[in-house]
Amino acid sequence: MSGPILVFDSGVGGLSVVASLRRRLPEAALAYACDNAMMPYGVREDDWLVARILEVCGAAVAASGCAGLVVACNTASTLALEALRAHLAVPVVGTVPAIKPAAGMSETRHIGLLATSATVARPYTLRLIREFAGDCRVTRMAADPLVAEAERRVMGSSPDPDVLLRTLAPLAEMPSLDTMVLGCTHFPLLREGLIEAAPRHVRWVDSGDAIARRAGQVMAGHDRHRGSETGWVTAPSEALARGLSGFGFTETRLLPLA
Ligand code: DGL
Repeated sequence: MSGPILVFDSGVGGLSVVASLRRRLPEAALAYACDNAMMPYGVREDDWLVARILEVCGAAVAASGCAGLVVACNTASTLALEALRAHLAVPVVGTVPAIKPAAGMSETRHIGLLATSATVARPYTLRLIREFAGDCRVTRMAADPLVAEAERRVMGSSPDPDVLLRTLAPLAEMPSLDTMVLGCTHFPLLREGLIEAAPRHVRWVDSGDAIARRAGQVMAGHDRHRGSETGWVTAPSEALARGLSGFGFTETRLLPLA
């Protein structure tokens, strides 16, 4: 297998998965693609989203010449993973909320899911909950405003602490909840702020390391030579280019879409 591992998200959220991939596969060449022209995905219609994800991922796989694709977006994976696998000729690793590990860790059997409004309502997510957390109470919390705060952080501004405080305020009324799933890849980028804003201590769980481990298995033997790494975007943005270069994607290019 040759070519980089391509990481895709609507915006900068996939960079939290890039951080896990860099830790687990330090030699791996990565490329990044994001649909910044159309983000956030979490508030969009399903049919439109499937068509758009197929179009952008198809174009990014072709442009990057990647060995495989990591869909570092829960909103996209819980909707379009099967369609992507049918449509693309490279292996595809998806990202789904870490319900199973969270259920394994919770002592009180009450876990939370912090994700986009699309992800918390998806049949895929409900199936995960039934299958892996059947004996837990699962409180689903839509937190779309955190996506924009993570974008601001990567682009060099501080996240608004009031948004984080408001999002996590309901935790004060749920003393039994001991484990919170970060079910959107943007949210681990706000981890310190979330810990500070939470009204009390909870355990935070995300999927980054599990995805990196899976990518290492699926794409074993791919080209490990790291050269200059490219970030593909769907709209020009200097702030985004600077943010991407902070994660090693020093060259930013506009993705050619049909
Ligand atoms: N990072 C994405 C996820 O994991 C979604 C953010 C968005 O709404 O675009 O769900």
